[in-house]
Order: sequence, then C-alpha cells, then structure tokens
Amino acid sequence: MKTLKNIDSLKQTLIDIRKNNQSIGFVPTMGALHQGHLSLINKSKKENDITICSIYVNPTQFNNKQDLIKYPRNIENDIAMLHEIHCDILFVPSNEEMYARNEQLGDYNISEVMNLLEGEKRPGHFTGVITIVHKLFHLIKPHRSYFGEKDYQQIWLIKLFVKKIKSSTKIITCPTIRDDDGLALSSRNARLNLTQRKAATILFQTIDSFKDQILKIKKRHHNNRIDISILKYEQIKMIHQYSFIKLDYFEVIDVENFSFATEIVFNKNYRILIAAFIGEIRLIDNILID
Ligand code: PAF
Repeated sequence: MKTLKNIDSLKQTLIDIRKNNQSIGFVPTMGALHQGHLSLINKSKKENDITICSIYVNPTQFNNKQDLIKYPRNIENDIAMLHEIHCDILFVPSNEEMYARNEQLGDYNISEVMNLLEGEKRPGHFTGVITIVHKLFHLIKPHRSYFGEKDYQQIWLIKLFVKKIKSSTKIITCPTIRDDDGLALSSRNARLNLTQRKAATILFQTIDSFKDQILKIKKRHHNNRIDISILKYEQIKMIHQYSFIKLDYFEVIDVENFSFATEIVFNKNYRILIAAFIGEIRLIDNILID
C-alpha cells in the first residue's frame, strides 16, 4: 500500500493511474477504522482497479471542539488494517494540506435538509462534510465512492450534491455493519465503557421494534396507509424512561424528499432515524421500513 501525505504526491500518483486507464474507487473516512469501513474498501476493491482510502478528521464538520478533540484516532492500527486487506493507496493529509491558507468553507447550501436532524443538532456539520468531500472528489475524481448507510442523512445529501454539480462520481451506498447484538459499528463506539456499550444496543432495538410494530399493523389491517403519530409518541415516551440515554431525535422520514412522515403509505420508502447520547457519546442509527 502506498501512503501519501500531501496533495502533490497524490496528484502525481493519480497521473500514472489515469495514464493506465484504471478505474478508481474512493473510500473517504475519518479513521479509527472498523469492519464497516473495511466492507466499503472490500466492495471498492471488487468494483475498481485501484482503491484509495483517505483518513482525515475534518475539523470543519465538528460544531463541538471537545467532540473533535475526543474523536478516536488510531492511525497505526488503521494502517495495519488497510495493509491486511490490500488497500492500494492511503491518503492521510494534514489540516494545512486540506485547508491551505486557512481558507474557509464553501457555499454549499444545497437543501433545507442540511438544517434538519443532524444539521439542526450539529449546526454547520453538513457544510463541513460537503466541503471536504468536494475537495477530495475534485482532487481524486473517483469513478465510484463508497459510504456507509449508518450516516443516512450524509449519504442523502452527498447524492444530492453530486447530482447538483453533475459530478461523474457514482455514490455507492453500503449496508450498516452491526455487532451481534445489533449495535451499528461506529468509530465512536470505541469511547463507550462496558456499561455504556450494553446500553447502546437500545438504539437499534428501538428502531427495529418500531419497524416491527408498523409491519404488524400493516398485516392486521391490510391498509394502504398507517397513521404513526401515536405509535411514535409512545415510542419516544418509552425511550425517555431509560435514564442512561438522552434522546436527541427519533424521526421517520420519506426517503424520496426527506420530509418527516406522520403516516406510512405502503408503496413508498421510509426510514426511521435515531440519535441519542449515552453519557457524553452521541450515537446515530437508522433502519429502512421495507
Ligand atoms: O462519514 C465520515 O466519516 C465523514 O463524514 C467523511 C465522509 C469522511 C467526511 O469527512
């Protein structure tokens, strides 16, 4: 694996790749890699000639300084994992490389969705995400780029962004990888202590059981639409009973336009999204109502 730390060396390597007409798969990450990331890299390796992974903890997408400072970092371990699965290129730029001349954020107000849920709770988060993804795409010009479904709102916005700028990069969504008890793998899980780790399974249990309730109602009533407002209210009330969890949001969205749903119509697709604090660690998860 080639490890590149600056833009110039990456550009030089890309010239050779393009000369050879090789397809490029790109997996942007913030490191502290886990099986979820590895599944993206493995998929990219299957579908492209060259796979590039970037590790960069992008400061502009953190609205909370403490969260940025405490974000897990484990570069030696990351490099060992990438070696083991034969990733071709690792790009690990510094802040000076990515934000030269202290340049600020781009004007990326692409949708109202940027200010909902994650965007509302973490103001500026998606501007930071899109800024860095745009910079990396501009540099690498990948044929395909791979993102995990756990950050559902992020993917939704990146897909929209790519469409708006008419980028030729195809965004590939990969399923969330979960531990045996359902907890979605996340770099932030590394910060959970044993008790918090056990408590964290409530996130997946909550969305999974909410989905089951909806599907059971559907079976019983053979209705084409179900009002979910009371069901949702009951579910939120239940989560509030857990003293060790502070719920940030619990929402059902129509995946087509990201609008909040109060009813489910059965020929449309919806997702249940949840965010909650376990102690000071904030986790998110989501599930499709299929
Ligand atoms: O999902 C992430 O890890 C980050 O938001 C990303 C896409 C690498 C941008 O910094």
